[in-house]
Amino acid sequence: MSKLIYVLNGPNLNLLGKRQPEIYGHETLADVEERMRKRASTLGLEIEFFQSNYEGALVEKIHEAREKADGIIINPAAYTHTSVAILDALNAFDHPVVELHISNVHKREAFRHHSFVSGRAEAVMAGFGTLGYELALEYFK
Ligand code: DQA
Repeated sequence: MSKLIYVLNGPNLNLLGKRQPEIYGHETLADVEERMRKRASTLGLEIEFFQSNYEGALVEKIHEAREKADGIIINPAAYTHTSVAILDALNAFDHPVVELHISNVHKREAFRHHSFVSGRAEAVMAGFGTLGYELALEYFK
């Protein structure tokens, strides 16, 4: 059976392609999902792709992943820097987690340098643009 990887996206990522394209690029989240699906099928992986602007919805999706997923790729977006709830949910997930940021958060404002998720993640990616999503899939292969 192929591995199922949950790909979770936090607030404002629904605006990808429209929001600050000089930082996040011109691709939409739908473009990213389509490219990931292609790469996943080449790699023999399955993905569940999800975005929410609500912290609780992301927490509940991580709970769902406990029963179903073999790994999580998460771009928690702004919740990276604020959410103990997302960290606690990930701590209750027993498989690998990859934290992903489109931009290089370390090159940006100081408040983006701290992540609640990084201490839980097996790997952290930042600054690869939307290509990072595909590279993160390679990790699970
Ligand atoms: C982000 C970086 C975060 O600091 C920011 O709040 C986001 C997106 C990224 O993908 O680069 O919304 O996670």
